[in-house]
Amino acid sequence: MNCRSITLLFAAIVSMITVTDLAARNVKIDTDNSSIIINAENGKKLSHLYYGSKISETDAANITQALGKGNLAYPDYGMITLPETAIAMIQPDGNMTLDLVVDNVSSRKENGANITTFTLKDTYYPIIVTVNYRTWQGENVMETWTEIKNNGKKNVTLTRFASGHLPIRGGDVWLTHFYGNAKNEARMESSPLEHGLKVIKNRSGVRNSRYAHSEVLLSLDGKPAEDKGRVIGAALEYNGNYKVKIDTDQSNNHYFFSGINEEDSQYILTPGETFITPPLALAWSSNGTGEISRNFHKWARKHKLANGERERKILLNSWEGVYFKVNEKEMANMMKNIADMGGELFVMDDGWFGTKYPRNNGSAGLGDWVVDTKKLPNGINGLIKEAKKNGIDFGIWIEPEMTNTKSELYEKHPEYIIKPANREPVTGRGNTQLVLDLANPKVQDIVYTVVDTLLTKYPEIDYIKWDANMDILNHGSQYLTKDNQSHLYIEYEKGLRKVLDRIRSKYPDVTIQACSAGGGRVNYGFLPWFDEYWVSDNTDALQRIYLQWGISQFFPAIGMSSHISASPNHQTHRIIPIKYRTDVAMSGRLGMEIQPDNMTDKEKEQTKKAIDEYKSIRPIVQFGDLYRLLSPYDDKGVASLMYVNDSKDKAVFYWWKTRTFANDMLPRVLMAGLDPDKNYTIRELNRIDIKPLSFEGKTYSGKFLMENGLEIPQNHKVAKQNETDWSSRVLLLEVNN
Ligand code: DGJ
Repeated sequence: MNCRSITLLFAAIVSMITVTDLAARNVKIDTDNSSIIINAENGKKLSHLYYGSKISETDAANITQALGKGNLAYPDYGMITLPETAIAMIQPDGNMTLDLVVDNVSSRKENGANITTFTLKDTYYPIIVTVNYRTWQGENVMETWTEIKNNGKKNVTLTRFASGHLPIRGGDVWLTHFYGNAKNEARMESSPLEHGLKVIKNRSGVRNSRYAHSEVLLSLDGKPAEDKGRVIGAALEYNGNYKVKIDTDQSNNHYFFSGINEEDSQYILTPGETFITPPLALAWSSNGTGEISRNFHKWARKHKLANGERERKILLNSWEGVYFKVNEKEMANMMKNIADMGGELFVMDDGWFGTKYPRNNGSAGLGDWVVDTKKLPNGINGLIKEAKKNGIDFGIWIEPEMTNTKSELYEKHPEYIIKPANREPVTGRGNTQLVLDLANPKVQDIVYTVVDTLLTKYPEIDYIKWDANMDILNHGSQYLTKDNQSHLYIEYEKGLRKVLDRIRSKYPDVTIQACSAGGGRVNYGFLPWFDEYWVSDNTDALQRIYLQWGISQFFPAIGMSSHISASPNHQTHRIIPIKYRTDVAMSGRLGMEIQPDNMTDKEKEQTKKAIDEYKSIRPIVQFGDLYRLLSPYDDKGVASLMYVNDSKDKAVFYWWKTRTFANDMLPRVLMAGLDPDKNYTIRELNRIDIKPLSFEGKTYSGKFLMENGLEIPQNHKVAKQNETDWSSRVLLLEVNN
């Protein structure tokens, strides 16, 4: 180790109380509430000693190996063959081993975060690997990633390249993860970890949260609870295929890995090239899963999500209102309606483009981003004019990474699509959809130009709904060389990021929604370029409670697009009154997804009132701390959550009945997150009852509300003819000085 690196090491090492030689090299990496301790001894393996609540320097210095031999910070394959490993590669001479040892430790500050870098080098081959930890102090999130450099003169082949690894001591450790399908995304599943390998992975190439999520919770003290127990939250920040693995071995210990899915993606690293793995974000809580969510939400708003500190507008999206039947009259009508109800933005969804191949259904037109003047004789400008007339903003739907066999783009450039050589492409939606090959820089230009042209031609466009409705269904790039075909998924993701970077550097202020046949793109990897995420194409208010519950574990409400839709609902056919639909939609980023012409005057009136009330609570919902109070998964007949603002003088409480049984014994919900010493006055929002609630306008201490709660009546007191089997409440709590 040279002098400079020794100095940096001393700066990075908080724990320099010399107890033993070994302890002196325990590097302590902290956030306000957590520490990771890594043992970095020159010439030895890098070892992970601790991840947990923040510890003292003496404790950090004195920690010794936590799990015996199995505590490598970044396990390498070859000289250790039996356990699961984080990295593996084939050397030019066919040698399949790596033997990485510590060479250097350094630290630096970057964009408000501290970065500690451990440099490892192979004992024989010219391979350098850095293991990095970035800490966000106040938000209590750490990110870890690696950079793998080939310093040799010949290619090496990377066959495994996880972003991060954590050894976790055996005990009663539970895993919570999210699985699902279109219209039923982000279902939560929690179970104790059992012996063997648990793998959660994605192979879509395009939409990586449709069937499973890369975010997981590891609860170390048994069944997960919102407000107690030690929990690790881990979210891979990646837009492509991922793999999360937990190996529970014969000694009951757990070995957690997360990173790019290496299957069918071996990567040839050329001389001098560095492969950078996507960051894995980690958060620690000693107080249950709720704190993990709040930390991730804060961190997302402050450092990840595009425009995370700007309020979101209330919008009407045209999809469920007219589907592909876009036309000028209908768009104008919808704009007038949303403006009349107090909305701020109208978004024209799919169906507006294509001339030779008009987009009348899902089987034609993608790639031909030219207005269909049969449907819109006055073009986009006509619509923008109409939006202005109504005093609202205008947004538009695109799916720029895709084309159809029935499109002018494909006719001219069949070489731009993803398909294997010597075979016909496998098609997706409408039996004609194809994915463009973003590995190809020319295709990257095309995708960039779609957005750039729209936004330069129509600078008034305020919002883009960016959709992606297909997976990579066949493996093959017409651009990559025959030796690099296994780079397809990785290069697609890189290409997409390049395009998004170009778009965002020119258009930082446009709101962009990540949509992917519903919630197929809800991952921290997408957040830096997107302002919000479409959670699901299922807009049924009851099922949305479950969907949004899952999403809320890692993703903040400000980005959670949540729309009031028709009744009967188009996906489940359930009949739900407007009050309940509104009360659910108001717990996220409120919007509408409906044909307003099919709403009754009374429904419109109620929605108008709800939009107005939402405006008053918008800062609390979009920037407040989330406290989940009663989970719909607990099946107690009620689900409930609340948001509390930073100064704890305003909160919004949501209560939704999730089933209807006569004389059901519904639990009384205890509030959380309030200041016990402050007094809160209660006001019901979206009220439909003839008589106010018994506690309307009354004041209660935070202590009482958190230790006792309010008795919410099971049903609404409304005129006989308006009675339904649905019941929900939204309460505003305010401290009056
Ligand atoms: C899938 C999206 O999830 C929907 O909201 C809608 O935009 C359609 N695509 C349009 O084709």
